[in-house]
Amino acid sequence: MPRAAAARSVAGMSTIWAAGDYHRFATTLVWHFGPELVEACSIAPGQRVLDVAAGTGNVALRAAEAGAIVTATDITPEQLSTGRREAEARGLEIDWIEADAQDLPFDDGAFDVVTSAAGAIFAPDHEAVARELTRVTRPGGTIGMTNFTPEGLASDFFGVFAPYAPPGPSPLDWGSEPRVRALLGDAHVELRRRDYVERVPGGPQGFVDFYRETFGPAAALFATIDAPQELERDFLAFAERANEGPPGGDAELRFEYLLVTARLPN
Ligand SMILES: C[S@@+](CC[C@H](N)C(=O)[O-])C[C@H]1O[C@@H](n2cnc3c(N)ncnc32)[C@H](O)[C@@H]1O
Repeated sequence: MPRAAAARSVAGMSTIWAAGDYHRFATTLVWHFGPELVEACSIAPGQRVLDVAAGTGNVALRAAEAGAIVTATDITPEQLSTGRREAEARGLEIDWIEADAQDLPFDDGAFDVVTSAAGAIFAPDHEAVARELTRVTRPGGTIGMTNFTPEGLASDFFGVFAPYAPPGPSPLDWGSEPRVRALLGDAHVELRRRDYVERVPGGPQGFVDFYRETFGPAAALFATIDAPQELERDFLAFAERANEGPPGGDAELRFEYLLVTARLPN
């Protein structure tokens, strides 16, 4: 199979996301998405919650802590195993199921709340994801997502990797206001534009090294391309121009995202 096709298949994507150390990445840089979605979706005890592309349980763990009955899905078994261990350590019960966001193995209307923190945006068929999120949410239920915006720094970030990776649909489409409204159809959609700072010791070089060690798509790309030194140069140039941190201090890069809550009609 050509490399592009392999990387775009669910199995290929899972291998990519298994590289690095996603739990270290998530707990260091994006662990705030979980509590934000629990609050934005008003997740309460007894509610049936599905976290899609859950990774190691950023939202799922927090929803279970809030008393919800939680199912976490992802295509990457390594993330699910880490999440399962994390839940056990916290004394939480969560169902961890390997599943593709484009084809969820659940009945129509099975959940009160369906969430995805910077997760389902990475599945290539955006319409299929939207259809599935909407299908498994009950009438009157809520979908909550955090989606990087095309106007924010994520656009420059993904632009660094684009020349080295197979082409595909942009995850940033989910951060476009008209596009996300169109994808979620007749739901009542609320959009809040927010930002957060990714802070990594060691300045821009520390930022590049941290991503290379922990973030699956970056780790996998560095390990497989012919000219990793060129990617390193481009990534470092990005980190230097985006860095808002003090000279000689931590790297501080500010990313923008849409906090999406969509209430389905009854
Ligand atoms: C940036 S991580 C986000 C994980 C988690 N939601 C969080 O906030 O830490 C993206 C996740 O999406 C998963 N993923 C990618 N494509 C997927 C798909 N088609 N279906 C389900 N999960 C997918 C990856 O395995 C990875 O765990």
